Amino acid sequence: MRTVDLITKKRDGGELSKSEIDALVQGYTQGSIPDYQMSAMAMAIFFRGMTPDERANLTMAMVHSGEVIDLSGISGVKVDKHSTGGVGDTTTLVLAPLVAAVGVPVAKMSGRGLGHTGGTIDKLESVPGFHVEIDNEQFISLVNRNGLAIIGQSDKLTPADKKLYGLRDVTGTVNSIPLIASSIMSKKIASGADAIVLDVKTGDGAFMKEMDEAKELAACMVDIGNRVGRRTIAVLSDMSQPLGNAIGNALEVREAIDTLRGVGPKDLTELCLTLGSHMTVLAGIAATQAEAAELLKEAIASGKAIEKFKTFLTAQGGDASVVDEPSRLPTASFQIEVKAERSGYVASIAAESMGLAAMMLGAGRATKESAIDLAVGIVLHKKVGDPVTAGESLATIHANSEEVAEVRSKIVASIVIQDAPVTPQPLLSGEIV
Ligand code: URA
Ligand code: CA
Repeated sequence: MRTVDLITKKRDGGELSKSEIDALVQGYTQGSIPDYQMSAMAMAIFFRGMTPDERANLTMAMVHSGEVIDLSGISGVKVDKHSTGGVGDTTTLVLAPLVAAVGVPVAKMSGRGLGHTGGTIDKLESVPGFHVEIDNEQFISLVNRNGLAIIGQSDKLTPADKKLYGLRDVTGTVNSIPLIASSIMSKKIASGADAIVLDVKTGDGAFMKEMDEAKELAACMVDIGNRVGRRTIAVLSDMSQPLGNAIGNALEVREAIDTLRGVGPKDLTELCLTLGSHMTVLAGIAATQAEAAELLKEAIASGKAIEKFKTFLTAQGGDASVVDEPSRLPTASFQIEVKAERSGYVASIAAESMGLAAMMLGAGRATKESAIDLAVGIVLHKKVGDPVTAGESLATIHANSEEVAEVRSKIVASIVIQDAPVTPQPLLSGEIV
């Protein structure tokens, strides 16, 4: 089978078979198929798309290109959650202990932040002592003992995806829905998930800015998951403004603690209950979404959720006293208010540029190698739709330098205030099962 024949087949609208896709992925990973042929293939896929069978076969070929985590030593249905990425998205910090508190086993691999979006591992590392350097055996025994553990993404997973993503990045082929969907799903499946809940974001701060594209991506991922025997559900959620109030690592840990105590921001709480209910149902612990939501609310009200968070932090070396004394978390030297220049209603808070403003303070990485400042970030005091009076604080900048003029102007430019009342975008706009 010559690679050029596969490229022309796809170019002309044909369907690649499972064995053809396997050969392509294997050959590319091992280096017998060169970058120039794979980039032609990626471009052919970009224009021709992929059939449902092709997408599922590509996903599984990438899963088998590297290590596959075996979670069979943990009893129960291992449900993973994946977010397509956003600004101030603190959901994993809340969800993991929350669903673990009702008996859903959480064996999670998370990533670090890059660009304007934050990463769960960075956020957790703002808890003094907390670390994710544990081996697979320890990981499984922690999940069996405590119901949850979080480790870093192993770099042995899905080498085919890593190589292909790098190629797509420089050949104008990132933005292909079947390629994005198989990339994301391959990583989830290789991390050992039996079932998957996807949080697909839309709006300014999201990877998919448009609702129709987000829906298409969600449907494509759900189809792949279900086709390969992993029950998958997608929730479409708004990322036109940051989620919750806090953006920044230690600030988001505080926000997660508040939410686990039942006093967190409304949008973050609602999203966690929705995603958490799906996880609880998929794990077979509740029969319906409503029953699951009740269990989760009870875990918050009774303190079980916050206790689970403490157990989890302690088990991974973290100082759990931060939960009762959040002032022990890294704290920035300067708190600077950004005041409203006029009265009215908040019309929009551009999520992506708020994420970039937090990155300028040092909360995020410009490149994979950059160091980050865990203490800094932004806390919003207003959300879209809220009334504001001139002079009122819109946000607090948490900085380790007093020179924040540029960040301040970015925040001011990102928050639009208008005279007429505003109805915010709904947080949730549907589910795909
Ligand atoms: N995120 C991924 O993991 N893969 C893509 O292709 C795009 C976004
Ligand atoms: Ca947040």
